[in-house]
Amino acid sequence: MSVALEDVLFDLTPGQDWHMQYSERVALHYILSRINPDVSIEIGTFRCGSLGPISRASKNVYTFDIDPNQHRNKAQFPNVEFITGNSAHTLPPIIEYLNKSERELEFILVDGSHEEEGVRLDLVECLKYRPKKSPTMIVMHDSSNPVVRAGIKKAPWQECPYVHALDLDFVPGMLYNRADIAGEIWGGLAVALMLPQPREGDLVPWSTFEPSRSVLMQHSIYDKSAV
Ligand SMILES: C[S@@+](CC[C@H](N)C(=O)[O-])C[C@H]1O[C@@H](n2cnc3c(N)ncnc32)[C@H](O)[C@@H]1O
Repeated sequence: MSVALEDVLFDLTPGQDWHMQYSERVALHYILSRINPDVSIEIGTFRCGSLGPISRASKNVYTFDIDPNQHRNKAQFPNVEFITGNSAHTLPPIIEYLNKSERELEFILVDGSHEEEGVRLDLVECLKYRPKKSPTMIVMHDSSNPVVRAGIKKAPWQECPYVHALDLDFVPGMLYNRADIAGEIWGGLAVALMLPQPREGDLVPWSTFEPSRSVLMQHSIYDKSAV
């Protein structure tokens, strides 16, 4: 990606690195600017690239990563609690705490485990949060990747009465020809909206990228029977 474009458009401090396409970054900035969350959760700290805009827009943030080096840029983020470990174990107590507190969890980025079961488990936990007065927006990165998408689709969306919308392709992903990931499909942002009042009727998810994605799958390294 162009260093000049990145420098002008995004406020990355040296040492930070943001693992998202520019279109995804813009979408994330927009969502955050609409919400200005009281509390945010980020699963997948990595080098604090996405944490920058999340922490600037939010009053308080919990960021989770299995890698103990996630603390490397901690000093730059006074409103962020860094939680190290597998989110399957570290996320549940925070969701439980937020459900009991008066704080409003208004934004969640799911970008940690990229295994099907890991993604599903993170979402099972996120869906245990009960919105109080404000909407809660869940943003899921790499929703175009077949493994991540399978995990997203297996989460209990229908069973959660507070989910009012699910768009698997808010930002579509792409087929890569970069040497290290040639033939793989990555990127994309799925978004889900939770509201304090229960939904009436079934949830009807959107997946507008699906026709393009099935064509990309034919040119990819993945099992074509999974299309
Ligand atoms: C793609 S990176 C996150 C990128 C970051 N959100 C950004 O946009 O720059 C994924 C991160 O999730 C972490 N991770 C993977 N599995 C995890 C798990 N089970 N629990 C917590 N973190 C996990 C990895 O260590 C890695 O730092």
